[in-house]
Amino acid sequence: MENSKLQELFNELSIEEKIGQLFQATGAVYEEEAVISGPVKELGINERDIYLAGSVLGTMGAKKTKQIQKKYMEKHPHHIPLLFMLDIINGYKTVYQIPLGQGAAFEPELARKCASMAAREAAADGLHVTFSPMADLVRDARWGRVMEATGEDVYLNSVYARAMVEGYQGEDLSDKETLAACVKHFAGYGAAEAGRDYNTVELSERTLRDFYLPAYESGIQAGAELVMTSFNTIDGIPATINKKLMRDVLRKEMGFDGVLISDFGAIGETIIHGVSEDRADAARRALEAGVDIDMMSGVYPQTLCQLLDEKKIELERIEECAWRVLKLKNKLGLFENPYKGVDEGVAEEQILCQEHKELAETMATKSFVLLENKNNILPLSKGKKVLFAGPYVNRQEMLGAWSFTGDISDTITIQQAAEKKMKNYEVCFCQGCPILPKEMKLDGFVNYKEEEFTEKEIEKMLTEAESKAEQADVVVLALGEHFLQSGEATSRAMIEIPENQMKLLERIEKINPNIVVVLFNGRPLDIRKIKQRAKAILEVWMPGTMGGNAIVDMLVGNNAPSGKLPMSFPYCVGQIPVHYDELNTGRVHVPGRDKDRYVSKYLDIENKPLYAFGYGLTYTDFHISEPVLNKNTMRKGEKIVASVKVKNCGERSGAETIQLYIHDVAASVARPKKQLKGFQKIELQPQEEQEVSFAISEEMLRFTREDGVFASEEGEFEVFIGNSSEEERKTKFVLKDA
Ligand code: NOJ
Repeated sequence: MENSKLQELFNELSIEEKIGQLFQATGAVYEEEAVISGPVKELGINERDIYLAGSVLGTMGAKKTKQIQKKYMEKHPHHIPLLFMLDIINGYKTVYQIPLGQGAAFEPELARKCASMAAREAAADGLHVTFSPMADLVRDARWGRVMEATGEDVYLNSVYARAMVEGYQGEDLSDKETLAACVKHFAGYGAAEAGRDYNTVELSERTLRDFYLPAYESGIQAGAELVMTSFNTIDGIPATINKKLMRDVLRKEMGFDGVLISDFGAIGETIIHGVSEDRADAARRALEAGVDIDMMSGVYPQTLCQLLDEKKIELERIEECAWRVLKLKNKLGLFENPYKGVDEGVAEEQILCQEHKELAETMATKSFVLLENKNNILPLSKGKKVLFAGPYVNRQEMLGAWSFTGDISDTITIQQAAEKKMKNYEVCFCQGCPILPKEMKLDGFVNYKEEEFTEKEIEKMLTEAESKAEQADVVVLALGEHFLQSGEATSRAMIEIPENQMKLLERIEKINPNIVVVLFNGRPLDIRKIKQRAKAILEVWMPGTMGGNAIVDMLVGNNAPSGKLPMSFPYCVGQIPVHYDELNTGRVHVPGRDKDRYVSKYLDIENKPLYAFGYGLTYTDFHISEPVLNKNTMRKGEKIVASVKVKNCGERSGAETIQLYIHDVAASVARPKKQLKGFQKIELQPQEEQEVSFAISEEMLRFTREDGVFASEEGEFEVFIGNSSEEERKTKFVLKDA
């Protein structure tokens, strides 16, 4: 619709209709005749509010969304279509690797393709908006939502946020195969104190700006149509009603002109935070902060009219929000076609089609990180007797915590894949132990129940695994977190694999030390004990629908691992937060000099994580030369080229991710020891050599200086190029203003 027409329509709307656009209802209320009950009733809204609501959360399916749209539009005074929104996080029906694993692939282009695939499937099934990407920077593995992030690094997160937004939204939002993307959770949600979900966030403004904000901004610059507020306080004020954050930083500085939506119930929760006095006050504050849509608090429809009558808010504030929502509907082409891409036939054709499954399998393959491979136990040599044991051997629940859109019955397990693909081996399988110890209950997880076993049955499982292990050459143990142990509201203070699975590992090790652990998890875990016991560890995260195929192909060497850790694996919980881009202290601990007394160190463990950011092995060896620069002085506007030669010295082809890190040696504020500024993944045949170059520009050297300006400073910079953040070989250049 032309802008002028949209304006005409807007002018015709009553104030209730405008407020309606700011309210989001759940799909359930439209599914039957709107019966207001349960939580919805508690929100203080009525049937009229529901038929004036601007958007719907949590409904999917072509038939259902079409019916709701039709019924709703008939009742709406101006027949304005609804927006259908949902969390499509790592795929719709074809579920691919969780975002943390996508980060490990170091392939934003692949994430872009996956996002477009998710958009194709979901749009055909009636959806318009996805609450993705989550651009929160994460440094604390206790926080369950690290699974939804692409990791601890500001640069990596920024390139992924951009790629995902572009993938979902395509070139033109009115295109039938696109979804509008929502960058979340603004801001700093990943820095929840002690890793406890929804907890307070304490960040200096500099840390917020230099580390936490850039990935959101990158998604916004890529054109994300929506941003979601976060649950946490920031500088003592809940983000959702934080005017400085939303009006000054998001809208003015970042130039975001799209729809700002609250997180679920977050406006109402500002009362519990002890900042808003009551529901009306919460609504007023959120509106003043410029929050356009109230997700599930109900405070907007309940209080805005009255606030207006009492002159506590200005009409203009409501109108700017409603206008933004209508503009989004218009961009999506809903006024021309309220059903947009929804089509049962297309849905049937697209969902889980061969092309999508292949893409999900590629993403899984690229995301796996080989953490250990002693004696080159992997890939498994042909002809070997291989026992697959552990709760993940034949388990389909490997889609991650947001997998409700997918159907686990579509998932390929390790056993199914191994039976098909390992004809050259002698394979056998057993579960070995339940996924969780008997006493651990997943309390509060609705509709989820694990199969229960008696003590006797558990012991039988273990002894079966032991006797099979005795006969095997190699034991592949598929272990890890339950998929519901990571995700929203799943903070953990002890981040090991469940202890009953550890027991399985310990008992098998006594019988057969040739152990390969395939590790499933949504967060970095404390895997010290696994490292001691296993010869190889293959990190597979929550790999998605095609997980089994990708894992087996990797184990037998049809593919080689190429993932790199997007987040450090701590040595133990006491070390958290541990991230590679920390600042130097004035008292640096030199590894090996443990007798140095007054230095920044632990008495009981090393400072470095068990596995660092950027680390990951493969089945061949690469030699990377010392970095060289084409010149040693950079003047503003110029570029310096840094390069290395990379040689595959092994006997198998393989891929390596070459990473560029920079360190600002002396600046007006302390700068990280090193920061990722670029990466390239290359594939080399045995003995092949290739030069890898990076162009370093002055823009890459900027930060929030002492004077508050985001700019670079003259001086010396160190350049590291290697295959992990632990690379120490370096060279340097000097930046001069003129
Ligand atoms: C709460 C979560 O924090 C957010 O990420 C999600 O998009 C909403 N619920 C809607 O499901």
